[in-house]
Amino acid sequence: MEETITAIGTPNIALVKYWGKRDDELNLPMNSSLSITLDESLTTQTSILFSDKVKEDVLYINGEAHLLKGNEGNEKIAFTAKAINQMRAIAKSKKKVMIVSKNSFPTSSGLASSAAGAATLVFGASKALDLDLNQKELSILARQISGSACRSLMGGFVRWNKGEREDGKDSFAEQVADEKHWPEVIDMISIVTEAKKKVSSSEGHRSTVDTSMLYKSRPSYADYNVVSISDAIAQKDFELLAEITMRDSNNMHATMLDTYPPIMYLNDNSREIMYAIHELNESEGKNVAAYTFDAGSNPQIITLKKHREKVREVIEQVRKGGKIIEAGQGSGPRLLDEEESLIDEKKLKPK
Ligand code: PMV
Repeated sequence: MEETITAIGTPNIALVKYWGKRDDELNLPMNSSLSITLDESLTTQTSILFSDKVKEDVLYINGEAHLLKGNEGNEKIAFTAKAINQMRAIAKSKKKVMIVSKNSFPTSSGLASSAAGAATLVFGASKALDLDLNQKELSILARQISGSACRSLMGGFVRWNKGEREDGKDSFAEQVADEKHWPEVIDMISIVTEAKKKVSSSEGHRSTVDTSMLYKSRPSYADYNVVSISDAIAQKDFELLAEITMRDSNNMHATMLDTYPPIMYLNDNSREIMYAIHELNESEGKNVAAYTFDAGSNPQIITLKKHREKVREVIEQVRKGGKIIEAGQGSGPRLLDEEESLIDEKKLKPK
């Protein structure tokens, strides 16, 4: 049956970060990582149509068309084409696909837009092809498009097991605790800049592994952090969760600075927020908030609902103006109704 499927999905924020690959083609990480899947305060909406009427595979991201063939100099587009081909092979389908995707938040500014995009796309495409794939299989497909995307397929706290195998079959995400386990934990995202990052994460993963001396100690430290933070989540120990979160972000960014030439995603604004959060925690006599930064300068502040007002005040004092988005924990991608479709099936164009 040819019908457009529309899905919605969300980014995740890693508390223990993935940085560095042991395999560039399959997106296999050097270390395990752990994240929170965010709620629908930030979303990617994706419509997918496999049809004989579609003449070539095409993906529109926020209005920009990308043909799903070759590389186009864009690794993530090439990886998306590969994942679509794998799914089509399982479904024994020869139909071409039109995919239209839009984000409710800035793309490529370190807000994990590619994670939300890839997870939603894989989830939606599996439904459109009527595939009966489990979460592990979906997460492996999403991982191949963008590593961190494999963690956006399920809700709450999610761990990505790095795996050992060369074919990547044991490198997938698993839920550690669902969104109902500790819903007090929220993420306050302060958007300082919507500018695209200077160094893409794909380039960054590679050059850090290749050139940073400090990076040699990073994978075992991150794996240790995944174990400790899983305990903190089980015990609902925010003091510990916050410390590991801040240390892990600092450790990853230290390896970036140690990359040659150096990669610096953090700027003065980011550093001011870091100081301000440590001051807040000191004045409270305990950790009430933790900062974390992905491949970008926008701080994400992990806190508990009961502390949201003071944290908001601190962020506002430091960065004056700009947006703060508050996100709770989400439950992973889901399907939307037909009316939400982004594809005009008659004209075979984005709406
Ligand atoms: O999935 P990628 O290749 O865009 O890597 C992003 C990695 C970080 O966002 C910096 C950390 C993480 O674990 O999400």
